[in-house]
Amino acid sequence: MEIFHHISSVRQALHEARAAGKKVGFVPTMGNLHAAHLALVKQAQSLSDVVVVSIFVNRLQFGLNEDWDKYPRTLEADAQKLRSVGCDMLFCPEEAEVYPNGMDTQTRVIVPTMANVLCGASRPGHFEGVTTVVSKLFNIVQPDLAVFGIKDYQQLAIIRRMVQDLCMPVRIVAGDIVREPDGLAMSSRNGFIREDERPRVKQLNASLNWIAAEIKAGVRDFAGLETSARQQIEKAGFRPDYVQICHSQTLEPAAHDDKALTILGAMYTQGARLIDNVSITV
Ligand code: PAJ
Repeated sequence: MEIFHHISSVRQALHEARAAGKKVGFVPTMGNLHAAHLALVKQAQSLSDVVVVSIFVNRLQFGLNEDWDKYPRTLEADAQKLRSVGCDMLFCPEEAEVYPNGMDTQTRVIVPTMANVLCGASRPGHFEGVTTVVSKLFNIVQPDLAVFGIKDYQQLAIIRRMVQDLCMPVRIVAGDIVREPDGLAMSSRNGFIREDERPRVKQLNASLNWIAAEIKAGVRDFAGLETSARQQIEKAGFRPDYVQICHSQTLEPAAHDDKALTILGAMYTQGARLIDNVSITV
């Protein structure tokens, strides 16, 4: 696996790959890689000839009181994992390479409305940081396709919208949620979950699945279901951020006759903020 720290060198290597007729697949990450990231890499490999993974802990998408400084940085172990699955290229730039003019005056990419609800409501500016860095990474890598996990459902929906709105020539591919045996969605932040909380954090997934089952059984009191799920999460000892039944594409609160629904939830543990979602068709 070739490792690149500079935009110019990764561009040169990709220029050669494309000139040789190779299709480029891309998986952007912030590192601290786990099985879910590697599943995205394998998915990209199945759809392209050369796979590039980026690792960049993008400060622009972290709020001032968030965990940018303590976000786990495990580059050596990450590179080893990527080698073990046969990844071709790793792009891991320094902050000054990505933001040479600093972040305050950086040109931004904003997807309105969608970026301000759910996680966007409790993390102002977060998705603006995501869409800005993903745009830059797309411009650097110029991939034929890019794979994003369904675990970050809102991020995926916003990126799809950005690509559509800005006519970006990249196919966005969705990767299934990879979970721990008890249902907890894998996340780099799971390492922050306190040991005493760990047996109970499956409640988030359990409550979203409970809502899905109720809807499938015919219940249409969405507000009532959301309230009950929040109470279940509180009873398990956590502070819910939101539980919302949404239209799967627009992420607007679901109407009673919507067919494709996604139930999204977020909660705070003592150590981490966790998110999850479940999609159903009725
Ligand atoms: P990060 O949290 O490292 O996630 C990188 C990719 O892995 C994202 O597409 C995310 O949805 C996916 N992923 C993480 N956990 C997953 C799981 N349990 N199942 C399926 N997919 C999972 O998301 C980001 O980084 C950043 O916002 C980024 C897009 C790189 C921009 O900075």
